[in-house]
Amino acid sequence: MNILVISGSRNPEGQTARAAKALLAGVESAGGQGELIFLPTLQIERCRQCDDNGWGLCRSEGRCVIDDDLAPLVERIKVADAVAFATPVYFGDLSESLRAFLDRMRRVYRHAADKDGVTGKRAVGICVAGGGGGGAPNCAVSLEKVLATIGFDVVDMIPARRQNLDMKVKVLKVVGAWLVESHKSQV
Ligand SMILES: Cc1cc2nc3c(=O)[nH]c(=O)nc-3n(C[C@H](O)[C@H](O)[C@H](O)COP(=O)(O)O)c2cc1C
Repeated sequence: MNILVISGSRNPEGQTARAAKALLAGVESAGGQGELIFLPTLQIERCRQCDDNGWGLCRSEGRCVIDDDLAPLVERIKVADAVAFATPVYFGDLSESLRAFLDRMRRVYRHAADKDGVTGKRAVGICVAGGGGGGAPNCAVSLEKVLATIGFDVVDMIPARRQNLDMKVKVLKVVGAWLVESHKSQV
């Protein structure tokens, strides 16, 4: 079983990375494999809202006019067995890199003719409030909403804060192992 973890943080040693790595450790403990991708290191523009009516090729052709790392990353999601989205909490919400990626993916998958590999794919969300510690539950609501609109089967959302991250790391290892075990019993 292969899980892709997409992080909206750029810090490979930060708190969000720690949470993402805990999920991956759980995946590996149950015999699965995973990979962690840091979105800010990729080239992903924000939506251009191409036409006056706010739409663009996303509506007419189910694809985005911008030739950047969006489509290749979506292809990687399609071939994964499950995907996790981890974000640092910024202003009680998603980081800008994850927001930009999911906003554009949502438009494309609203109208894509071929939704194979995306619709119904199991997804987990992780929101890490590493400053004062506020805003993780609100971020989780925001993340769950956009993932569900894209069509993912959102099977878990884990809000965490600096003050409880040690405990949440344990939870995330269990969630990672559960993703693998429950996948085995699904197929
Ligand atoms: C623009 C910005 C807004 C932030 N807003 C919050 C917040 O609402 N709540 C909070 O606890 N931390 C907030 N933080 C701190 C981040 O959550 C913290 O830096 C992050 O969890 C740890 O980053 P890392 O995982 O990328 O290392 C904010 C940080 C930035 C840069």
